[in-house]
Amino acid sequence: MGYKVVVVGATGNVGREMLNILAERQFPVDEIAALASRRSLGTEVSFGDKTLTTQDLDQFDFTGWDMALFAIGSDATKKYAPIAAKAGCVVIDNSSLYRYDADVPLIVPEVNPQAVHGYSKKNIIANPNCSTAQMVVALKPLHDRAKIKRVVVSTYQSVSGSGKEAMDELWNQTKGMYVPGQEVEPTVYPKQIAFNVIPHIDVFLDDGQTKEEWKMVAETKKIVDPAIKLTATCVRVPVFVGHAEAINIEFEDFLDEDEARDILREAPGILVVDKREPGGYITPVDCVGDYATFISRIRQDSTIDNGLNLWCVSDNLRKGAALNAVQIAELLGREVLKKG
Ligand SMILES: NC(=O)c1ccc[n+]([C@@H]2O[C@H](COP(=O)([O-])OP(=O)(O)OC[C@H]3O[C@@H](n4cnc5c(N)ncnc54)[C@H](OP(=O)(O)O)[C@@H]3O)[C@@H](O)[C@H]2O)c1
Repeated sequence: MGYKVVVVGATGNVGREMLNILAERQFPVDEIAALASRRSLGTEVSFGDKTLTTQDLDQFDFTGWDMALFAIGSDATKKYAPIAAKAGCVVIDNSSLYRYDADVPLIVPEVNPQAVHGYSKKNIIANPNCSTAQMVVALKPLHDRAKIKRVVVSTYQSVSGSGKEAMDELWNQTKGMYVPGQEVEPTVYPKQIAFNVIPHIDVFLDDGQTKEEWKMVAETKKIVDPAIKLTATCVRVPVFVGHAEAINIEFEDFLDEDEARDILREAPGILVVDKREPGGYITPVDCVGDYATFISRIRQDSTIDNGLNLWCVSDNLRKGAALNAVQIAELLGREVLKKG
């Protein structure tokens, strides 16, 4: 016996990946529904070798469905997630709406699987921001060994993190550079993204950091340890898929780079690719379609007593969103619903 699963936002970047990953991992599905807005009514989406016809979220009755994987923006989530949850369907949400709610667990299954039992207060589980998800997979095993005091992270985030329209904007601007008359004004981003980098993701907060940067701080504290101090600079780069992060970590205890490499090699969800030679590291282009969080460039930071630097790359649509959500669904099935 399997589960009745709903994918909400099935026509989007994350929703399509959710369907792919549910099929790839042979999630025990008895019945599956693909939902999006009325605009997409009847649009066909793939689920393994099957084709699903998209239904209108607004008209859908969640009664009798086990879990709903949501990948729509926060505004629509605010309207529809409580309806699904109230109907008894557990919501696994990709938006930022519930991540900081004390009654909603925020889960990365490799890091804090035990938090799944907190789902029942609201019947909702939150999925973290893409840049947080891959980073905490790397931080947790190192924290368990040497206790992290402070993290300084700079991100290099692909445009797919802003949805399908942003991918079109990069593509059209890039083409416009070569085809006379095809130049495209920025609409998704405040400045040109093709052949450029933009040090601004999400809105600015009063203290000068952006909300994306704040999310990395708040989510790391909720998922790993509230004692960890973290400061981030989040940057959008002209890459279609795959986020990269340069991470500097200061520990309480000394951790040798070779031991850190061994710890990361053994850690769940991580693949270490760290040869000190040209090409001996992973780039965003290499990680697309993969499940792993890749770690390269592990090295001592000799400017502080207990410091390490590393380079962390993952497919933001997978570990950063859809894969993590499906892993949460697997965890929920295994630990709580126990049907599959
Ligand atoms: N991309 C990432 O790396 C990433 C990572 C973590 C979290 N997230 C979050 O995941 C969510 C989806 O992101 P995305 O990148 O997949 O966006 P996207 O490609 O723009 O897709 C948005 C999806 O939401 C649907 N939708 C929008 N408004 C709706 C409404 N009122 N009713 C029903 N469906 C509606 C769209 O349906 P139509 O096609 O019918 O418009 C589409 O299926 C966002 O909350 C985002 O913040 C994304």
